[in-house]
Amino acid sequence: MSRLPDTITVPRTDPIYNCHAYLTKMPIGAIRPFIEHFTQPGELVVDSFAGSGATGLAALTLGRRARLSDIAVLGRHIATGYLTDAPAREVRAAADRAIASARKAIGTLYLTKRVSDGAMVETIRTIWSFTYLCPSCKDKMVYYEALDARGKGPEYCPSCGGPFTRRSWPRGKDVPIGVVIPGEEGKQVEQMVCEMDQRRIRMATKDTRLRQIPSLPIEEHREMYSRSGLGRSGMTETGKFFSSRNAIALLELWRAINEIEDETILQKLRFAFTAILPRASMRYQWGPKRPLNAQNQTYYVAPVYFEWNVFDLFSRKVDAATRANGTLFEDGDLFSEESMQDITYEVTSAERLVHLADCSADYVFIDPPFGSNIFYSDMNLFHEAWLGETTDYTYEAVVYTTGSRKKGAMERYERLLRGAFAEALRVLKPGRYMSVVFGNSSGRIWGLLQRALRDSGFKAPPVHVASLDKGQRSVKGLNSGSEGVVTVSLILTVQKPAQGKGLEKAATLSNGDIDPLIRTVIDEMPSNEARSPSHIHARILRRAIHKGRVLDDLHLGDVLIALRNAGYRVDRETGLLQGSGRGRQAG
Ligand SMILES: C[S@@+](CC[C@H](N)C(=O)[O-])C[C@H]1O[C@@H](n2cnc3c(N)ncnc32)[C@H](O)[C@@H]1O
Repeated sequence: MSRLPDTITVPRTDPIYNCHAYLTKMPIGAIRPFIEHFTQPGELVVDSFAGSGATGLAALTLGRRARLSDIAVLGRHIATGYLTDAPAREVRAAADRAIASARKAIGTLYLTKRVSDGAMVETIRTIWSFTYLCPSCKDKMVYYEALDARGKGPEYCPSCGGPFTRRSWPRGKDVPIGVVIPGEEGKQVEQMVCEMDQRRIRMATKDTRLRQIPSLPIEEHREMYSRSGLGRSGMTETGKFFSSRNAIALLELWRAINEIEDETILQKLRFAFTAILPRASMRYQWGPKRPLNAQNQTYYVAPVYFEWNVFDLFSRKVDAATRANGTLFEDGDLFSEESMQDITYEVTSAERLVHLADCSADYVFIDPPFGSNIFYSDMNLFHEAWLGETTDYTYEAVVYTTGSRKKGAMERYERLLRGAFAEALRVLKPGRYMSVVFGNSSGRIWGLLQRALRDSGFKAPPVHVASLDKGQRSVKGLNSGSEGVVTVSLILTVQKPAQGKGLEKAATLSNGDIDPLIRTVIDEMPSNEARSPSHIHARILRRAIHKGRVLDDLHLGDVLIALRNAGYRVDRETGLLQGSGRGRQAG
């Protein structure tokens, strides 16, 4: 058996990971050591919260079989795209034909005149800005024009000097600021928006094809409606997030792709198409130095954003998809024909795995939602509008925090997790293992997870607890005392009791005083390992789990306070810990 590491640090820069975004997806490099450790080639791996299918890809590259499932229609679409082996040259040729056909169909919409030589060229991107109306002097403020030299937003009205607040100032119509085009020397150059650009934009807004753009309402009861302030901004439909011009280009490209008859090429190009949607929308943020990615977990639109040429995005994504395809299917040992034949994906809830027989799986690897951090089905609407099918969120394992669904939300979440673990236990062979990825700043949610694991009949404590560092930015503001965001998750591995022993209930978890534990871990921490509060939080959680402690009272907020008392502080820019615990205070 291969050794299982205690800490898994995975840079999220591999071609497979970056090919198609999915919320909180796992890098396959983080899953492979677990599959290698707990299974043999040819054995069956189950992931019932499979999302974009990373567990299936990891299994595939290790010659294992996999049964994937999730409630997310988008998840199945992405996993299918990854798992479809399509020949690079034919994919490229079909993509070029689809682009050519869509280009023809949109006519001159992206064309502009290059100022330097008068040549007609296609815009690579157009920069757009919000405008605001000053409530005092009624003057219009173009946000982009009011930025300072470092790109920082305005604090006062440039006309009357009154205080500016983004939340309360009424918005005017967004305006195009500049266009980026290929320069004469081949390098990209920026020029001001001209009358021709304005005409094309007006033309697009009157185009009757806009009525055919696939779009879904993001209804008021959705958690992300209030969290993203959609009522206030009026962005209550997914189609509204695209400029008219990009919406038409996307529509024509989608039509051309869907005419492809070869099933594998069709799948690959539909996959590349959905992969570009966030960047093809107003969610692609302008930044003073470089573009900032769309925030995948919210419907946020920044006050300065891009309208990026859809064909440019798609063409590059097709290259990325064929590169990922090459890594998955052509790198010699990594790929086994047989395992490829035996990876399936069902759309179903994790507590109803009717497609799986009792005691049929050799290993379960799951990564369920972490409480109320992310609302997958709400965010999936953005892509699913194009797929024509949406996620049924009846059994979505999340903790609602708004509206009528808030009542009893924790109990509902616990019930769903318990049901999912019980199903995992049922399908696992006796004596085999389940690994669960989990992270949260709240001890209450951790306590709930512990109970759900115990009550479903797995042995406790876990046989292995690893820290998973996905390399995200760290908790900001130790001094604010805020609970912040956890960037280090744990992977707990639990065992199904062996046959003949019956399903023993896990030992009762003992309650214990959490404060001395926090202090001990901080005191023992080698200074070179004290990287961020989140790393220390993970270390404390691991220690507490190994000791069989109930985690209900162990919050990241308490860890932050203990760190401050021990003389550490958090760098606001990097989120990393500074100081070496000097100035420690007793108690
Ligand atoms: C953290 S994500 C999994 C990401 C996945 N590991 C990947 O790499 O893409 C959690 C997933 O749980 C799914 N989910 C939520 N409730 C579910 C349920 N009751 N049954 C199955 N899947 C569920 C969500 O749709 C989401 O895809």
